[in-house]
Amino acid sequence: MKRISVKELTAEEKLRLLCGDGFWNLYNAEGKLPKITVSDGPVGLRRVLSVREDGSDVMKPSVAYPTIAVLANTWDRTLAREMGASLADDCLENGVDILLAPGVNIKRDPRNGRNFEYFSEDPYLAGDMAREYIEGLQENGVGACLKHFCANNLEYNRFEQSSEVDTRTLREIYYEAFRIACKAEPVSIMCSYNRINGRYASENKKGFSVLRTDFGFKGAIFSDWEAVRDRTCSAKAGLDIEMPFNREHYERLLKDYQNGILTEEELDACAQRVIELIYRCKEMSCGKKPRRSVSERLELAADIEREGAVLLKNEGILPLRKGAKVAVNGCYGKPATPSLVFGGGSARMVWLEQPFDIASLLGSRLGTEVLYERAFLPKEVSGNGTLGIPGKAVENAALADVNIVCAGTGADIEYESGDREILRLPEVQERAIIDEAKVNPNTVVILFTGSVVDVTAWEPYVKAILWAGFCGERGGEAIADILCGLVNPSGRLTETFPYSLSDIPAVQSYRNGNVTLYSEGLNVGYRYFDTFQIPVRYPFGYGLSYSLFKYENISLALEENALCISYWIHNVSDEGGKEVSQVYVHPIAAKVYRPNKELKGWSKDFIESGKKICVKVRLDFAAFAYWSEAEDRMTIDDGLYEIIVGSNCENSHLSAKVVVENGIFKII
Ligand code: BGC
Repeated sequence: MKRISVKELTAEEKLRLLCGDGFWNLYNAEGKLPKITVSDGPVGLRRVLSVREDGSDVMKPSVAYPTIAVLANTWDRTLAREMGASLADDCLENGVDILLAPGVNIKRDPRNGRNFEYFSEDPYLAGDMAREYIEGLQENGVGACLKHFCANNLEYNRFEQSSEVDTRTLREIYYEAFRIACKAEPVSIMCSYNRINGRYASENKKGFSVLRTDFGFKGAIFSDWEAVRDRTCSAKAGLDIEMPFNREHYERLLKDYQNGILTEEELDACAQRVIELIYRCKEMSCGKKPRRSVSERLELAADIEREGAVLLKNEGILPLRKGAKVAVNGCYGKPATPSLVFGGGSARMVWLEQPFDIASLLGSRLGTEVLYERAFLPKEVSGNGTLGIPGKAVENAALADVNIVCAGTGADIEYESGDREILRLPEVQERAIIDEAKVNPNTVVILFTGSVVDVTAWEPYVKAILWAGFCGERGGEAIADILCGLVNPSGRLTETFPYSLSDIPAVQSYRNGNVTLYSEGLNVGYRYFDTFQIPVRYPFGYGLSYSLFKYENISLALEENALCISYWIHNVSDEGGKEVSQVYVHPIAAKVYRPNKELKGWSKDFIESGKKICVKVRLDFAAFAYWSEAEDRMTIDDGLYEIIVGSNCENSHLSAKVVVENGIFKII
């Protein structure tokens, strides 16, 4: 195809390029440029076919993977890359050039309605997993759109609120995941809706320049859908494409260009990037064909859940023994609609196959008949006869050896454009768990939620809790495998479960008109709880296994410019299983304020029963750096650092010290 350059387009054509075409396409200058189609989203392809009269989308069914929050909890870089690759196949089959994913916003407040779409409270983990996801997607022919830049950590008042964040916090927390993900060279980035220190994210000239100059981002910047207020202002700031097309904005832009408010140079800079984006996407997909069959993609969706579900509590009840008499209660066990086990908004999906049925999946694995009762709906429904039969569920529970309650939230409670009010489950569900556990103490709760739940009211009554997350359409199989011991749980939390909402620093600035003060600074998630020793229910990095691991013999060595940390993990149990060992850096006697320790590396490894393996994790200098306000750049102070290896951020098993002197590591 003959490539055209910006010089060959008229001013009108260039201006049109800056404004998208309809909802899901880029302008192609009447066929002079290839056509580019974009589509959501992070947990599966949401291809919109048409729009109904009531404004709702008609969507093409597609493989529904577990959410990004579940993917993050796998701590498995290979799975992140495979999910990207598999999504690329879905896109290639549907003529989609750019997938509007992944999102790397930091989970600063567990109520954020979109947390299920995001990876973590930790920017290193979020950035590194996103890097793999993007590489998987792009290697297989489809462009990524990394979103939402930036400091978009709430849905409340999302079009207006200003996230007021200091530079150091932006650099170390909110920009950091974007910095790391940019190593995968995403073809595009999407700005967010909110304002950042007063400026709309679509006019964030300073932020865009950090992306392009400091993080080496070479792609184009999209607006979020309808995030642009003033197209001229945003173009001058370096926002390349407004989505969707807005005629009024285009006409204003044209007028501003004719009046010299938008200069030729500014217009060409944006138009050039859009043209490059278009050709890059076409080169990327050239000759690419889907590599996985649909059934392989569905199996991958199950595998992500197998690795990402987190066992939070287990007092000897799991795995279930063969032949056990089991009751399953709760509408999430056999979701009548996908929206029970998905979040709402632009990540909503129409899945390919029939919803799963945990009771029959368990029955076939255990070789018994499993009783099932829907019991409740997500939100209490009264007087219209749609409520299940709680009495029947309690009876079933009483008759069983083990009672399983499938509880959760779904798209009516966790969704884009709103935040959760509380972290507790709806009252009807808490009551069902307690009522059933009272007649059967062998009660297990499975949580189908997008993110954190406050379990305080009912946790003491139950023997086990499995966080399944929004588990994707094949999640039922994965959950049944874990419950029956066919899969050993290996998911670990990437977001802290606090005891109470009031323990979170961010709650203090919530719903404060148009301004959200990020006054906690760097103290987000475990950085806060760990530094100030605030007890939490389940710490960052936590998750149980059916195996037991012992850590031994840490040693440090220099390998080229990196610090290589080696340690042994011994599986001292009868079960083969996977361990996620986590490497944190703790600066001893830091010269500026630093959180107590920060995650800088990890490894997920399978260890056979009774066997030991040697794990190696490499850290480069960036793992020791912080943003110096004094020098206006990332800095590494000389001094002593402790390297801590643990199975979660509270459970440290090994430690060693290293000195940094004049920019080199010294082993002591
Ligand atoms: C969301 C984006 C999404 C876009 C297109 C917006 O409302 O914030 O994440 O990609 O819609 O559906």
